[in-house]
Amino acid sequence: MTRWLSVVGLGEDGLEGLSPAARQIVDAAEVLVGGARHLAMLPDDDRERLVWPSPMMELLPDINARQARRVCVLATGDPFCYGVGTALAKHFGHDSMTIVPGASAFSLAAARLGWSLDRVETLSLHGRPLALLEAFIQPAARLLALSENASTAQGVADLLTARGFGSSRMVVLEHMGGPKERRIAGRADEDWRNRDLADFNTIAIECLADPDAIARPRSPGLPDDAFHHDGQMTKREVRAATLSALMPMPGQLLWDVGAGCGSISIEWMRAERHNRAIAIERAEARLAMIAENAQALGTPGLKIVSGEAPAALEGLEQPDAVFIGGGATGDGLFDLCWGALKPGGRLVANAVTLESEQILMTRHAELGGELCRIAVSRAEPVGPYHGWRPMMPVTQFSVVKT
Ligand SMILES: C[S@@+](CC[C@H](N)C(=O)[O-])C[C@H]1O[C@@H](n2cnc3c(N)ncnc32)[C@H](O)[C@@H]1O
Repeated sequence: MTRWLSVVGLGEDGLEGLSPAARQIVDAAEVLVGGARHLAMLPDDDRERLVWPSPMMELLPDINARQARRVCVLATGDPFCYGVGTALAKHFGHDSMTIVPGASAFSLAAARLGWSLDRVETLSLHGRPLALLEAFIQPAARLLALSENASTAQGVADLLTARGFGSSRMVVLEHMGGPKERRIAGRADEDWRNRDLADFNTIAIECLADPDAIARPRSPGLPDDAFHHDGQMTKREVRAATLSALMPMPGQLLWDVGAGCGSISIEWMRAERHNRAIAIERAEARLAMIAENAQALGTPGLKIVSGEAPAALEGLEQPDAVFIGGGATGDGLFDLCWGALKPGGRLVANAVTLESEQILMTRHAELGGELCRIAVSRAEPVGPYHGWRPMMPVTQFSVVKT
C-alpha cells in the first residue's frame, strides 16, 4: 500500500521547528491540509490547500479523492494525542500514512514545569465537557488539561473550589514553544476571569485538598449521598460488591438495566477512564437524576436511554457487561441481556424480592455462575445509643458468558 497521506505535527515555531525529515515531507507535498492557523505558516506557493471545515470529518471525502497525489496534513503537536491523527488512521488506515509527530502540549508543559509526564494525569477539555475534570480531582494529583479557550481556566478554578480544592495551584501555559509564550500562575480560588488569557493554552493543576474537601476516590463505593437519589438506588456496600462482580476492564461497555439514579453506570465509568455505559431507566424523574449525577461525578459521556426494558434494549451496542438492578422478573429481559452479552462478558443481577430471587436461582441452575447473599446492617442512633439497622438483604447472581 502506498503511503500517500502524511501527517506532520507543527509547534508554535512553525516550519522552523520541524526536523529535516518532516520539512522534506511538507516541501514534497502536492496537497496541504490544515487549519487556517497552520496553513498561514507556509510560504506562498500554488499548491492546493484544503482548510478544515467544521465538523472536520466533512473534509474526509475530499482528502480521499486526492489519493493519487502526495497529501500532507498539518497538525498541532502530536497528531495522536487528542489530535487529528486518530480519526485519519481510522478512516484511511494506518498503513497508508506516514506520521511525524511534534512535541505534544503535555510534553511541553511537563518540560516547562519539571513534572514527570508518567506521574501526571492528562486530559482534554478541548471540545469536551468541563465536567470530565471532576473524577481527576484527587488529593495531590497533578493534572495537565488541554483548554477549549481562555475561559476554560475559570471553569476549572470554579470546579476545584466547589470540591474544596480552592488552594490548588494552577498554571496557564499559553502558546508554548512560540514567540507568544506566556505563563500565568495562581490559586484555584482566585479570580481567573480578568486575566486577559489567550485562547490557546494548556492548564497545569496541582490538586491540593482544603480541610473541607469532598473525598471522592475513583474506586467503587462512593457514599450514597454523593448521588442525587430518591431511595431507589444500589446502596454503597452492595454497589461496591456489584462493581467488583462486574469487573470493569479498560474500554468496556456496560448496560445498566433499571439504572435508578445511575450509580452503577457512573462508578463503572469512573473506575476506568475509557469505559462507557448505557443507563436504561423508565421513570422520567430518575432520568433527570442520572443526567445530573453523571455531570456532577465526572462522567458526562454516560448514555441515557429512556424506556422500559427489554423493549428499550433493542438495537443498543453489544455490551461487555450487564447489570440488572431491577426488573429481573420482566418477561424476556434476562434472555435478551444474556443473548446480547459478548463472549467473556459478565452478567450480574441483584434481587430483593422472592419472585426475582427465584428467577436468579433458576438461571444459576441453568448457567452456573455464583450466587451470594449480601446482608448489610448500618449502625444508627437509637435514642442516646446506637443499634444495627438491617437493610433488605440482596441476592446477587453473577455469571461469565464463556
Ligand atoms: C486539539 S488539541 C491538540 C493537541 C495536540 N495534538 C498536541 O499534541 O498538543 C488543541 C489544544 O492543545 C493545547 N495546545 C497544543 N499546543 C499547545 C501549545 N504549544 N501551547 C499551549 N497549548 C497548546 C491547547 O489547549 C489547544 O486548545
